[in-house]
Amino acid sequence: MTMSIRSIPEYRYPYGWFQIGWSHDLQPGEVKALKYFGEDLVLWRGESGEAFLQDAFCLHIGAHRGVQGNVVGEDLQCPVHGWLWNGEGRNVHIPFSRVDCLSGLQTRTYPLVEWYGMIMAWWHWDAVEPPFELPEMPELESSEWYPMHPYSSVVHRIKAHPQNVVENVCDPFHIPFVHGAKEPPRVERLDLQPDGFDAELVIPYGAGKKSTRLTPDGPVDAHVKLHNYCLALGTLRWEFPYPTLQISSMTPVDEEHLDYFFQQTSKRVPGTEGDEPVGMALEMLKLQQAVIQQDFFLWVHMKNLPAPAFAPEEAENYTAFREWAWQFYPEESH
Ligand code: FES
Ligand SMILES: [Fe+2]
Repeated sequence: MTMSIRSIPEYRYPYGWFQIGWSHDLQPGEVKALKYFGEDLVLWRGESGEAFLQDAFCLHIGAHRGVQGNVVGEDLQCPVHGWLWNGEGRNVHIPFSRVDCLSGLQTRTYPLVEWYGMIMAWWHWDAVEPPFELPEMPELESSEWYPMHPYSSVVHRIKAHPQNVVENVCDPFHIPFVHGAKEPPRVERLDLQPDGFDAELVIPYGAGKKSTRLTPDGPVDAHVKLHNYCLALGTLRWEFPYPTLQISSMTPVDEEHLDYFFQQTSKRVPGTEGDEPVGMALEMLKLQQAVIQQDFFLWVHMKNLPAPAFAPEEAENYTAFREWAWQFYPEESH
């Protein structure tokens, strides 16, 4: 079967779960103005600890409630005339009016969960509810692994289309040029599913050498396992050179930019104390934090072509991936 080569949608906001921050960065009573999915948003944490994400603009006369807004109990108080809004987006109090509130008003509220210290929002342009919850992560349940936060957490705002970043999985041949590897990895498996994908890459370590620091007994094939939830929330697991889990989210900001949220954890180094990664765990962290930035120049400066010219070795995965990815965008953008 010949598959048509398809490009990337100009529309930048595929549906899915996206990271929008870290739990430790939002204290009870704190209010933040955010911009994601092309929308102005307000994020706050009520006094009892629950966090809420809504469209920013007050339905009274349109103040941005994330700018000088205040938390009152669980509710958000608009800074201009003091109208109170609850976590469901409803107006619950008007200070100066004989009507206590305008209960019919409804601000758009986004499904929000805190997932192992990451604040995750569900985005769908039509406000379709999430079809699945984010799963348990065994590494993050285990005391044998370092805590993920705050030691490994970084975010980079870059000019990029989220899909270009995720398509790295179809592109083993950039690895020698961009990341300095001797040989490209093999894409052993790319399993495109309704709500995400599974993939396995085989990365040769110490190829052609009797012995290196990481491979004293000769070359090792490292099997790296990826799973993405929808398109743009990814997990990546290493066994070699050191057991490590990475979680990244390509969260679209506006028509040009995304926030590349990144964090990782590794198995605790035996015989060491404390929650801060050391030894090989720290080495993996420093390395991966540097590696992710090596691709930025591509995404920042590239242009998505309507008909890219894939080589035979990459065409099957690229075209299958692009066909599959369209499901995460609105029909009209196809
Ligand atoms: S604009 Fe928000 S209370 Fe008036
Ligand atoms: Fe890369």
